[in-house]
Amino acid sequence: MGSYRDAWRRSVEDPEGFWGEAAKGISWYRQPDRTLDDSRAPMYRWFPGGEMNTCYNAIDRHVEAGRGAQLALIYDSPVTDTKQTFTYDQLLDEVSRFAGALRDLGVGRGDRVVIYMPMIPQALMAMLACARIGAIHSVVFGGFAAHELAMRIDDAAPTVVVSASCGIEVNRVIEYKPLLDAAIDEATNKPRACVIVQRPEATATMVPGRDHDWDEVTSAAAPAPCESVAATDPLYILYTSGTTGRPKGVVRDNGGHAVALHWSMSNIYDTAPGEVFWAASDVGWVVGHSYIVYAPLLAGSTSVLYEGKPVGTPDAGAFWRVISEWGVKTLFTAPTGFRAIKRDDPDGTHMARYDLSKFRYLFLAGERLDPETYQWASDHLGVPVIDHWWQTETGWPVAANLMGLDPLPIKPGSPTVPVPGFNVQIVTETGEPAAADAEGLILIKLPLPPGCMSGVWGDEQKYIDTYLSHTPGYYLTGDGGHFDEDGYLFVMGRVDDVINVAGHRLSTGQIEEIIASHPAVAECAVIGVTDTLKGQVPRGLAVLKSGVTRDHDEVAAELVQLVRDQLGAVASLRQVDIVDALPKTRSGKVLRKSMRAIADGVDMPVPSTIDNPAVLDALRPVLNPGS
Ligand code: COA
Ligand code: AMP
Repeated sequence: MGSYRDAWRRSVEDPEGFWGEAAKGISWYRQPDRTLDDSRAPMYRWFPGGEMNTCYNAIDRHVEAGRGAQLALIYDSPVTDTKQTFTYDQLLDEVSRFAGALRDLGVGRGDRVVIYMPMIPQALMAMLACARIGAIHSVVFGGFAAHELAMRIDDAAPTVVVSASCGIEVNRVIEYKPLLDAAIDEATNKPRACVIVQRPEATATMVPGRDHDWDEVTSAAAPAPCESVAATDPLYILYTSGTTGRPKGVVRDNGGHAVALHWSMSNIYDTAPGEVFWAASDVGWVVGHSYIVYAPLLAGSTSVLYEGKPVGTPDAGAFWRVISEWGVKTLFTAPTGFRAIKRDDPDGTHMARYDLSKFRYLFLAGERLDPETYQWASDHLGVPVIDHWWQTETGWPVAANLMGLDPLPIKPGSPTVPVPGFNVQIVTETGEPAAADAEGLILIKLPLPPGCMSGVWGDEQKYIDTYLSHTPGYYLTGDGGHFDEDGYLFVMGRVDDVINVAGHRLSTGQIEEIIASHPAVAECAVIGVTDTLKGQVPRGLAVLKSGVTRDHDEVAAELVQLVRDQLGAVASLRQVDIVDALPKTRSGKVLRKSMRAIADGVDMPVPSTIDNPAVLDALRPVLNPGS
């Protein structure tokens, strides 16, 4: 076990040496010419000249090394009462045949494939099949509605869309195909073909000439070999919420991504080939991309794909059942899942029913791990409970307690320390370095390590404007926080309009755009308020156009439904209040922070720039009826 501090120091003093060594963990068709290309800074590129294939590294090389009979994937689906396993040999067969099917449908290197799927093995197979032939996948979370899917289809311009007839939410069948059809109708860039997995719970109606059945195209196809791609070629695009209504397409490369994720499995997660790793997330989110699909397979571990919830499928013992049944060593999920378990089973009685002897680590991310949830999980599980902080953009943890190096004492409320490769700095609003314990903006000094975003799809300038322009030479994370005297990082929350709802990242600006599109609404604001289960939930306030005399409850209900229809149920918007006016500064900026503080019962001085304090006062009983 190496020293964390030495590793971190080497990684920032000699990034080329550090990551050049880590790159030996990956098989290359052609070695990189150099480790880091900084000739176009701030647009850095890792491993230029290198040629490799991510799918080869995730599957084929383990088979060639004689480990084809080892389990690669465990599919555990309490919602369909299905359990299925795939060895590396079997996964190779499935993935190379679907890769052949995609090729037969005209997908080539650099073409995009949108994947809109529930948590079934074919979702993971489709991603790896794209990687195999050098195509770029873009997975869209199944909880997003047709309009969100349409925006992503238009931006990515896919040759093919891969989907399924339905997803299952506990005991409700959600038909995906009508949503896909509506999205394609709305989109300007029409895909050439769709491939649909027909699940027994719902049968999709196929569009002749455009739609193909997964089983039919796969059985007719010859297996496709791995394409050699440039390390710097995109592996995928993953759209994420920013401050505007339009999601940004985060682009991840092949080489840097494989090197970083492979390194993370042993050094952060202490998980070795053959051990069972379970990320209880969704392939539609970055956690699912990195730690359900790529990292465990790159490391030769066994990954669990779980189609269920922490509670209700069937009870709060679901996680412990999966851990004991499959011998999971490492579980990774979001704190919200644990709050749900704690709510249903406060004494942890379900845990006692299962053999958790192989379980060694619980990793949590996606939102701040509140000290109370940390304490509960830690007391009941008796294994290290590791908070770690990262973002879609970084693709892997920026701050963590590295279980494969020397683990540090845990401080509840802190994701511990910066991971090697990430030179994290805190600055004040005016750009001065912040003192220990002083809150500020969290920045990361460039270059970011391998595995982080290489750009915004189709818009290099947007990447520079959004992330690299605040302080030249630094990446702006969008989170605020501080270091304490011991160098522990504390991440306190977003400083922009991004909110985290049950570990799902949403933009209040995006929800505002939808509410504002209602014909009765003059203006509106959406704020993220604290929620004991989901961490945060959105709340809307809308001012109606003058002359609109409609019943307020009726309009509010329409607004809630509109957001559900346009964005998806995952927005969890339940409450919109119709108000007379929104509080603003004299220059017309809506005072969202002040409204959020009132709703959360937090003391915050009224900004001196407020235009009319009476407007804010009138909202106090609406925002916080108990105040
Ligand atoms: N397809 C369709 N609908 C979906 C969906 C999907 N893939 N995922 C969620 N939804 C729907 C839900 O059914 C729910 O609908 P409803 O309002 O009609 O009930 C809505 O979107 C909100 O979903 P969610 O935020 O997941 O809330 P929940 O009440 O269903 O469950 C938790 C709460 C805490 C149990 C759940 O969020 C959870 O398991 N979280 C685990 C962590 C996680 O997955 N984090 C992701 C990043 S690590
Ligand atoms: P996403 O891109 O969906 O992964 O969301 C990233 C955002 O989630 C970050 O910018 C943080 O605001 C929040 N986040 C993720 N993990 C943590 C954590 N461990 N502690 C605090 N916030 C977190």
